[in-house]
Amino acid sequence: MNRILWRKDLSSPLSEFLGVTTVSVLIWYGFREVQNGAINVSTFIAFLYAFFMVIDPSKQLSKAVYSIQKGAASLERVQSVLNADLQIVDTPDAQPISSFETAIEYRNVSFKYYNAEEAALKTINLRIEKGKIVALVGASGAGKSTFIDLLPRFYDVQEGGIFIDNQNIKSLKINDFRKLISMVSQDAILFNDTIYNNIVFGLEGVNREQVIEAAKIANAHHFIIETEKGYETNIGDRGMKLSGGQRQRLTIARAVLRNPPILILDEATSALDSESEKLVQEALTKVMKNRTTIVVAHRLSTVQHADEIVVLQEGRIVEQGSHQALLELKGEYRKLVDLQAL
Ligand SMILES: Nc1ncnc2c1ncn2[C@@H]1O[C@H](COP(=O)(O)OP(=O)(O)OP(=O)(O)O)[C@@H](O)[C@H]1O
Ligand SMILES: [Mg+2]
Repeated sequence: MNRILWRKDLSSPLSEFLGVTTVSVLIWYGFREVQNGAINVSTFIAFLYAFFMVIDPSKQLSKAVYSIQKGAASLERVQSVLNADLQIVDTPDAQPISSFETAIEYRNVSFKYYNAEEAALKTINLRIEKGKIVALVGASGAGKSTFIDLLPRFYDVQEGGIFIDNQNIKSLKINDFRKLISMVSQDAILFNDTIYNNIVFGLEGVNREQVIEAAKIANAHHFIIETEKGYETNIGDRGMKLSGGQRQRLTIARAVLRNPPILILDEATSALDSESEKLVQEALTKVMKNRTTIVVAHRLSTVQHADEIVVLQEGRIVEQGSHQALLELKGEYRKLVDLQAL
């Protein structure tokens, strides 16, 4: 880029210089010819005029060639993304699914990233009953994000399988299945658009009242109406005009609006001050009501209400049970709790 800009900035003075030189030579030569009587004055002036007319368009042409090359390079890069092979597609006999009735089950699930040496998850077995809150805890790199990314099939498991109501999720229509799930991720995925559009986010057939209702549940309505244009305020690239907590509450509002039976939360409350953490936490608690929730908890104080806590360590489940039971076990979970209490 530096090289290109250097050349581009240099090209203008250079072409001016060359242009002036050429014209000087032309005038000098033409003047001599006129003096010699080889051409008459009017022909010479007409020639000069024509010459000047040509200079500008020819400069434009060289610029156009440059732009085309630049565009072609960008196009190539965009196309390589758009044309990338989809690894995860519906099988020809994929089944539709429209509801979630009993349980999600991870059966002997192992998963290794294609470029990794070691498996990120090793023979995981877990049953998540409908309506329960399951919390995943564990050190950084233990495999928590990997665990939740497998459910919406961002990756496919290599061994074992994930089952919903006893159906392998690989045998289901991906779009149908994903409609059952909402995900609030660690870094909020927002777009350079209005608050309203960011909450609706491609959902069809929703009205303004429903959007406002969702924002209220997510503790977001208050700060939204205090912004300049309310729901029509533009939030900038990736929502940069908002604070971290506000961004997160917008994505929670989005999840509420979709109203899915299954909710996946990668809690990111650790980056927030205690006031916004409280607001986000309250919002999450409201959202989890009457839903099956898998929550990755970074702050252990927030998982005590979970029905089951699963402790992951290096890709394996090492402990599982209620907060109280795990405390009494005096194992890994107890260590994590003690560390955070310090
Ligand atoms: N895209 C990837 N490619 C290769 N290896 C990966 C990839 N993503 C994660 N890993 C590896 O898989 C393991 C589990 O990672 P994971 O992101 O699931 O950890 P985590 O428990 O979510 O950690 P954290 O609490 O820091 O978010 C780590 O050893 C990590 O290095
Ligand atoms: Mg993670």
